[in-house]
Amino acid sequence: MNINKLLSSMTLEEKIGQMIQLPPRNFIIDSDTDVIGNEYDLGLDLDQIYTTGSILGIGSATEMKEIQTKYLESSRLKIPLIFMADIVHGYETIFPIPLALSCSWNEKLAFDTARISAVEAATSGIHVTFAPMADLSRDPRWGRVLEGFGEDTYLLSRFTESMVKGFQQNDVSLKGNIASCVKHFVGYGAPIAGRDYNTVDMSKLSLYQDYIGGYKSAIEAGAKLVMSSFNTFDGIPVTVNENLMVEVLREKLGFEGVTITDFDGLNQVIAHRVAENQREAAVLGVKAKIDIEMASTCYIDNIVQLISDQRISIKEIDEAVMRILRLKSQLGLFSNPFSFANEEDEKLLVRSSNHLENAKEIASECAVLLKNEKQILPLKEGLKIALIGPFATETKTNGAWSWRGNNYKNVTLFEALTTNGYNVDIIDYLNEQIEDQLSKVDVVICALGEHQDDSGEAKSKVNLELPDRQVKWIDFAKKSNKKVITVLYNGRPLVLNNIDNSDAILEAWFLGSKTNETIVDILTGKINPSGKLTMSFPRHVGQIPVYYNQLTTGRPRLDQSNPYTSFYLDCGNTPKYSFGFGLSYSNFIYGNILINKKYMTKKDTIQVSIDVKNTSSIGGYEIVQLYIRDEVSIIARPEKELKRYKKIWIDPNITETIQFTLSVKDLYYKNPKDESKIESGVFTILIGPNSTNLHSTKINFQ
Ligand code: BGC
Repeated sequence: MNINKLLSSMTLEEKIGQMIQLPPRNFIIDSDTDVIGNEYDLGLDLDQIYTTGSILGIGSATEMKEIQTKYLESSRLKIPLIFMADIVHGYETIFPIPLALSCSWNEKLAFDTARISAVEAATSGIHVTFAPMADLSRDPRWGRVLEGFGEDTYLLSRFTESMVKGFQQNDVSLKGNIASCVKHFVGYGAPIAGRDYNTVDMSKLSLYQDYIGGYKSAIEAGAKLVMSSFNTFDGIPVTVNENLMVEVLREKLGFEGVTITDFDGLNQVIAHRVAENQREAAVLGVKAKIDIEMASTCYIDNIVQLISDQRISIKEIDEAVMRILRLKSQLGLFSNPFSFANEEDEKLLVRSSNHLENAKEIASECAVLLKNEKQILPLKEGLKIALIGPFATETKTNGAWSWRGNNYKNVTLFEALTTNGYNVDIIDYLNEQIEDQLSKVDVVICALGEHQDDSGEAKSKVNLELPDRQVKWIDFAKKSNKKVITVLYNGRPLVLNNIDNSDAILEAWFLGSKTNETIVDILTGKINPSGKLTMSFPRHVGQIPVYYNQLTTGRPRLDQSNPYTSFYLDCGNTPKYSFGFGLSYSNFIYGNILINKKYMTKKDTIQVSIDVKNTSSIGGYEIVQLYIRDEVSIIARPEKELKRYKKIWIDPNITETIQFTLSVKDLYYKNPKDESKIESGVFTILIGPNSTNLHSTKINFQ
């Protein structure tokens, strides 16, 4: 298809139609697809509807084909629709929530997750996924932390890159590949006070050093689309923020693909009181080079008039439409409008046993063992278990943003334990005989957490503690002198002081379709837990944001007796569980860091190594983390920054030597103008099992 020729044959109305995205309900009234957002009647007439460029969310190959057929029959130029949807951590085979996935520190799993999600979604005719979410976040009050990869830019960037590559591979026109729309550009993960959609007030330094990295790596990996975020930046909603959407995104980052607003995002510029009405919002959107308006009508209802008033130019519209047509062409839609939508493939591939097996393997690396006093875990065989708590018999363990995942197909923790031969009593907390029941068991498992719908979009919270009615279960069991293992299901870091009483704590997150089977394999030792946290767990909600790569401040808390230092009167400064922390059933001992030279220049590299010994009788994965501290620089720099990590299997009683190669690139930092800077001087290299327990050595950069 010659898209230049096609563009020149389009009427203005047809061009504008390409720039709107509508939910399927506009085409088939009985569509049962859930669309997330404030859906309302857009008041479009049929002529407008049959110029639409893309659809948000469809439920099946049949639905896709029905809509595409109807559309092509009624549209003059027969330009196929693109179908987009949120495939965030799986289509029907559901994988761990992205935050949990990042705790594997194994980005290959992000690639695999995206691959399988793409293969499944493509069978239903989906062309584009609104994923990955590249928003860095340091605020667990924000419900969407579950969709991201944690608080560190480097780790997050590696995961976003892998996900994009997994969705798209090298060619989005090929069967089983879908295009990736990275979201939500930019800063959306830093709303004030953690309240979703709230104002973002961020320095340019923080933007370039911390928040932009995830998008940058997704764009470098070839993401075809970028979604703008709801929030303001420097007072201007990002969707219409020319500086960010044009200068930063298109000019600096070199993004040439399609931009799309978030749901109703252009319309919301009016609620931000930055545009008086939809017409003015449309002008701002076009100037910010926003190509597609999702689920609102500023463009479709106003652009004709705006062009005749010379407020915007036809050239601007042509450029946007060209980008959309190019995407359609890259997706192969002009030769095959139904793409790979196929009911037979759906039956064969969607939630296939192979995919479920993969989901389980992936989940096995994501849970984080936070506590294991006296090695109560793994559970010995033949124990009699009491199982208490709201998640004992819960199947809703997929995690939010898994609209196609059927929770009712999941097994409960009770079922997974009994299938593994354990003798399990479910204890009803309201039952008066509880003490009597407890006396008959060897160990108590408390399955606690927050409902899967308590995290996700518009799910901000100020209280991150587990409710008393859950915690009481632990205290009851302890009073009966029982060992308590707490398994946590949640989509955000929680404040866990009130479960300190537990002998063991397994942070299981929501692990998707195979959540409880995986948990039981970990509890019983079939799987040795290896996940490590990618977001700090605060001691108190008042510490938020608490994250590992903070600055030292001018008055660091080195001398406890000096009251004029940076600290809280009523709480420590450190998080309860820090970034990078996670236990294993193995025991790893770190040796000293070895370096092949003490001096480094711009031209050479430095070899760094460390020995890690597994002193236990259980083989396991260890995640070795390397951080760097710039001792003196023009801009105050974090105490440490993650620069490398390696996940490695170590057999019992074996020592492995872990090697890293560092170059000057690892020492550069960004300034508020987005320039990479370095000054000569001392850098400290720190290596260890987590961000707080580190060996160190110094090098000199000249
Ligand atoms: C969310 C996006 C999502 C879009 C479409 C919005 O409300 O913020 O993340 O991609 O809806 O479902």
